[in-house]
Amino acid sequence: MPDKVVLAYSGGLDTSVAIRWLKEKHNLDVVAFSVDVGNEPDFPKIREKALKLGAVRAVVQDARQAFIDEFVVPALKANALYQGKYPLATALARPLMARLLVEIARAEGAGAVAHGCTGKGNDQVRFDVSVGALAPELTILAPARDWGMTRDETIAYAQRNNIPIPITSASPYSIDQNLWGRSIECGVMEDPWTEPPDDAFIWAAPAAKTPDEPEYIEVEFEKGVPTAVNGKKMAAIDLIEKVNELAGKHGVGKIDHIEDRVTGIKSREIYEAPAAVTLIQAHQALESMTLSREQLRLKQIISSEYADLIYDGRWFTSYRDDLAAYVDSSQRFVTGTVRLKLFKGSSAVVGRKSPYSLYRHDLATYDRGDVFDRSAAVGFIKLFGLPARTQTQVQRKKDKEK
Ligand code: ARG
Repeated sequence: MPDKVVLAYSGGLDTSVAIRWLKEKHNLDVVAFSVDVGNEPDFPKIREKALKLGAVRAVVQDARQAFIDEFVVPALKANALYQGKYPLATALARPLMARLLVEIARAEGAGAVAHGCTGKGNDQVRFDVSVGALAPELTILAPARDWGMTRDETIAYAQRNNIPIPITSASPYSIDQNLWGRSIECGVMEDPWTEPPDDAFIWAAPAAKTPDEPEYIEVEFEKGVPTAVNGKKMAAIDLIEKVNELAGKHGVGKIDHIEDRVTGIKSREIYEAPAAVTLIQAHQALESMTLSREQLRLKQIISSEYADLIYDGRWFTSYRDDLAAYVDSSQRFVTGTVRLKLFKGSSAVVGRKSPYSLYRHDLATYDRGDVFDRSAAVGFIKLFGLPARTQTQVQRKKDKEK
């Protein structure tokens, strides 16, 4: 066993208990490592807490820019939605955390890394697979998977060891959040028949508190990347925060989903992701105008493969490189503007335009100015329908005779 470990530290109950447990059980020096992906308001406090609990060092790294540029934007270009619903906020942050964890472990000369994931979820898979791919020489420890304590026993351990407990009965939820979305688990929502209570959401307003007038927003894209909102150029990170605020105010972006975990469990998952939902919707609308039917069809398959790969924690693979290369190539002409209407919990695309639009009014119109050659339709249909006619004559008539 190595003598030093870098622990991915969130400041929550499990990772706080883990600092003590790694010391007690494995006699390890613990370096607490916290990554800012837009998840927490108060990192200095988390750092202080780690040191108070006995970490030999506590490091906080602002990784918001890398998170957006290297993980969120590629996922948006791919329209990555797991099972067509979940924008993958948590799943996208894990490989980045794993990569940084490996970097810190090397810099600190630590032979092990640790995380606070339990043995039931997806996050353990994402951490372990990513670390294993990047640094097979490192030992991976997952105290919360090993210690076999129930939640109540963990709380009792914390109380015995003077470890402050962040979860109070006033907030019965288990939360993971970052710039791309927020996941809310536990409490009454474990019953899939129970509607998520309003207090589960902090970004998407309850319907009763949304404005009574619709609001229109315009999102500009360049090669598949959002670059401006309502005519104002913005860095992706600010743009995502802006859209989160605009769409959230109208209650857009709540997701209620029965999800299939990698570990084989079906779980009821609640998310709020106003920006992710709105931007993916806008991006898809622009693609439908600028990509051909075949490109759109393959893109859908690529998108679903990409989403599964992110969900499963297979980011650091050649498969991901290959999918990303196709997605990037497909975005060459995905440039233009989408107009959305936000109102009472829904966002609708109501307009789109692009200098590379494949929509041609002179082909589509039923009015004057029509240039479509309808005389060519007859010959086209004759050949297009030939296989169907042939098969009917030779085989289907026989089927009916039986
Ligand atoms: N079900 C989602 C996922 O697997 C969210 C998980 C939230 N993670 C957490 N540790 N609370 O990506």
